[in-house]
Amino acid sequence: MSATTNGDAKYGSRPTAILHRTPWRPPVASSAEGIYVTLEDGKKLIDAVGGAAVSCIGNGHPKVRQAIKDQVDKMSYVYNMQLSNDIAEELAHYLVASSNGAFGAVGFVSGGSEAMEGVIKTARQYFYETGQHQRTNFIARKLSFHGNTVGTLSLAYHPARRAPYLSLLNEQSFHHVSPAYAVRFKGKEESEEQYIERLRKELEDKFLELGPDTVVGFVAETVVGATTGVVAAPKGYFKAMKSVCDKYGALFILDEVMCGMGRMGTLHAWESFGDGVAPDIQAVAKGLGGGYVSIGAVLMSQRIADGVRDNAGFWKHGHTYQAHPIACAGALAVQKVIEEENLLANINEKGAYLGELLRARLAGPNARAAPYVFDIRGAAAWWGVEWEFDVPAAAAKGYAGKTFAMDVQARALENGLIIMGFTGGANIEGTKGNHNMLSPAYNITKEEVEKIVDVFVTSIEEVLAANGL
Ligand SMILES: Cc1ncc(COP(=O)(O)O)c(C=O)c1O
Repeated sequence: MSATTNGDAKYGSRPTAILHRTPWRPPVASSAEGIYVTLEDGKKLIDAVGGAAVSCIGNGHPKVRQAIKDQVDKMSYVYNMQLSNDIAEELAHYLVASSNGAFGAVGFVSGGSEAMEGVIKTARQYFYETGQHQRTNFIARKLSFHGNTVGTLSLAYHPARRAPYLSLLNEQSFHHVSPAYAVRFKGKEESEEQYIERLRKELEDKFLELGPDTVVGFVAETVVGATTGVVAAPKGYFKAMKSVCDKYGALFILDEVMCGMGRMGTLHAWESFGDGVAPDIQAVAKGLGGGYVSIGAVLMSQRIADGVRDNAGFWKHGHTYQAHPIACAGALAVQKVIEEENLLANINEKGAYLGELLRARLAGPNARAAPYVFDIRGAAAWWGVEWEFDVPAAAAKGYAGKTFAMDVQARALENGLIIMGFTGGANIEGTKGNHNMLSPAYNITKEEVEKIVDVFVTSIEEVLAANGL
């Protein structure tokens, strides 16, 4: 089979010259409106996961379309090493003004991995400029994902995504401590306070092992995304981790590429799921541009901005498409739609309903899936369902469920619903576990929530039935 004709006949035989990133040939989309996507063969799908927690207001919002068109007519591009541009300046002011004083400056990039690369370099530049050259170590967490570049794969610890590149990764500067994942890793006899104290101590021990004045910062996803599936830390955890950073003069850094910009029901996830502890530096992307444009941002506190500005005077980090006018126009329009249409209030309400339906239909008394549901968790526009097949009901049928979440994703797609399935989040080695993820647009309706849950549950039950469960 030639490189241009490989594929799955089910989704059409049109040759592809794209080197796809899925083991299967993905169907081809032709148009989209709101949360509905139409394929080239005319089939209509509901997108219940916003691509990958990206499309936070759906496709085709008239205000965003207009803003992008207007910007194309006005000015498509200037290079940020020569000229700033008015729409980027406006978006930066908007992000600073909406942070309740947490952030004093913004650097723009083109996506999440670039934002996290920017975070690493900004944190290092801060100490470089302020005379602490010895600070070269980052401490992140196991079972995390911070991007797919070599630098961010080194920083994070997603076993499957690192595997082919291990020999390229930097183990000298990037170190890892345990995840904050209570349902899996808190001891049975351990209270939540004791669990947090164990994690706090582990971080402090890592500081001491590396030399506390060599640590640049501690880095975490406020709510963990793809790796373990919408896992928030226990209350008090982030306060405890920040206290270690403060004690040794290191930075507290959050990755909100997936969980931020409203996904958890507050603009920044740390406002609701991070003990209200503002980070020194934070990455955002996905929901910033809402899928209309490719954009990410590094948000930094006034202290970090001053440390850089008062010494070097400028950010020693950049890309050709940084602060791209069209991207900034699209992102600003998306953010204004969220604010003007009161979409966080909407998604807090609809998200609570979504969670309620998931619990009733998957874990309720008559639910077929109930014996295999390990956890249903989330808030607002982000929900995860974690499965467990190491249970008597599955053993009785000889079913280990290794690819269950992926099978549900595939079945849901056949049934007209886009969701995500992941494996490998239930142990540190990344060899066990299944979870599915839903992350709908913030302007979803009650009827759409019900439809999504219907098709999701049907797909789950069909996969269970196909395996004799
Ligand atoms: C927490 C987190 N950080 C970084 C990234 C990388 O973002 P991108 O895929 O836009 O490069 C992702 C992507 O899923 C993510 O979830």
